[in-house]
Amino acid sequence: MKIIRAKDYKDMSRKAANIISAQVIMKPACVLGLATGGTPVGTYAQLIDWYNKGDLDFSEVTTVNLDEYRGLPRTHEQSYWYFMQKNLFEHVNVRPDHIHVPDGSNPDAEAACREYDQIIRDVGGIDLQLLGIGIDGHIGFNEPGEAFELGTHCVDLTESTIEANKRFFDGNEALVPRQAYTMGIKTIMQARKVLMVANGANKAEIIKKAFFGPVTPELPASILQMHPDFILVGDEEALSLV
Ligand code: GLP
Repeated sequence: MKIIRAKDYKDMSRKAANIISAQVIMKPACVLGLATGGTPVGTYAQLIDWYNKGDLDFSEVTTVNLDEYRGLPRTHEQSYWYFMQKNLFEHVNVRPDHIHVPDGSNPDAEAACREYDQIIRDVGGIDLQLLGIGIDGHIGFNEPGEAFELGTHCVDLTESTIEANKRFFDGNEALVPRQAYTMGIKTIMQARKVLMVANGANKAEIIKKAFFGPVTPELPASILQMHPDFILVGDEEALSLV
């Protein structure tokens, strides 16, 4: 585990984008596992900036996103598909047929998850997986208590996650979907490199517990202590307790 300290959100985003761009430059046809949430937005903005300057080329890159709300079509403004289009894909030259996000509109959870695992296998696995962290320690939508050995599966979101994510649904908890399809911990652990971004004082406690406490399914991110190539880039506030 490697921890990189950044001064602030902008610095964290730049450092994370540097690691991602190194991956793309070293292996242009790489597979990037991507994440949603507020934290990686600055990282994507930095990548777009370097792309516009001609320093980055995504034409051979394949992307697989971590998760998607069950029941939201791609056109829904709060779907993770839509989020990725607006925050990254529309602004760079990733080929549309190289973009993969679990199909939240497929009501058949088992089929949707099976198909997604097959896609990840077909593209040869993930070279670099980007992650944020939920305040309860979830990664993707792997909530506390879930088995470490799962591939893509359907989860019931916890109250804490619904509460944290309602800010994206006009603050209305009733509009937040109750379930999601997410890559499992097994899928994430099989990525060749894992990069987590974390910022803000509200992440300090969980960062300390996840990476300086016991490895337990009760704190899903803690398993990353066992990953052979895990990098955490955090700002001063998120790393204030470690
Ligand atoms: C959601 C996403 C996670 C993300 C988390 C934290 O639950 N499924 O992938 O890490 O939110 O989001 P934020 O970065 O906004 O704190």
